[in-house]
Amino acid sequence: MKISILTLFPKMFENFLSESIIKRAIEKGLVQFEIIDIRTFSKLNNNQVDDTPYGGGAGMVMMVEPVVDAINSVKTSESKVFLMSPSGKTFKQSMAFSFSKEKHLILICGHYEGIDERIKYYIDGEVSIGDYVLTGGELAAMVVSDAVTRLVEGVIKKASYEEESFTNNLLDYPTYTKPPIYDNHAVPEVLLSGHHENIRIWRVEEQIKKTREQRPDLLE
Ligand code: ADE
Repeated sequence: MKISILTLFPKMFENFLSESIIKRAIEKGLVQFEIIDIRTFSKLNNNQVDDTPYGGGAGMVMMVEPVVDAINSVKTSESKVFLMSPSGKTFKQSMAFSFSKEKHLILICGHYEGIDERIKYYIDGEVSIGDYVLTGGELAAMVVSDAVTRLVEGVIKKASYEEESFTNNLLDYPTYTKPPIYDNHAVPEVLLSGHHENIRIWRVEEQIKKTREQRPDLLE
């Protein structure tokens, strides 16, 4: 799959793309990233891409034309275009799964006080990563790209995400590694027992317990 990210701050993605699982997924050819600098599509002096809002108000608004030109420079019949915005639909694991089946995602990072509303005629939807306002959509695009990339076939083992948080509306079970006792805190005995069925049952019980404590909304 390919992910194209349209941004005014392309350098923000350099470290993101050059570490860990994302880096390996790119090297293996499982995902392809393309970072597009929206500013290069400005037709104005000083590469201007924003202006004051009609009707007055604080801040600057990104102009629609350079953003649409940037979309059109990468868009094909297989592309899905999403604007990162706090007003979007909340990003969930289920959305990450459906995005991971797409051939080409185009993620637009908004800045300033947002993008001219007429961008809505050129996108497939808006995505928010949570109920808070970031200085721009870049971190949101990284969050979405990261969650999607690890679900692309071959990037990580299927078993790593089949049982994890949210896949079945339950939080993950607790995990432990060596040493067996740290500062008087022992690893639960069942995990040292080698009894696979008991371990499986214990893990499901812990998932339910943890979900009830931390995220009762998921059980409704
Ligand atoms: N841009 C600013 N805040 C955002 C959020 N919460 N989600 C997505 N994009 C954003």
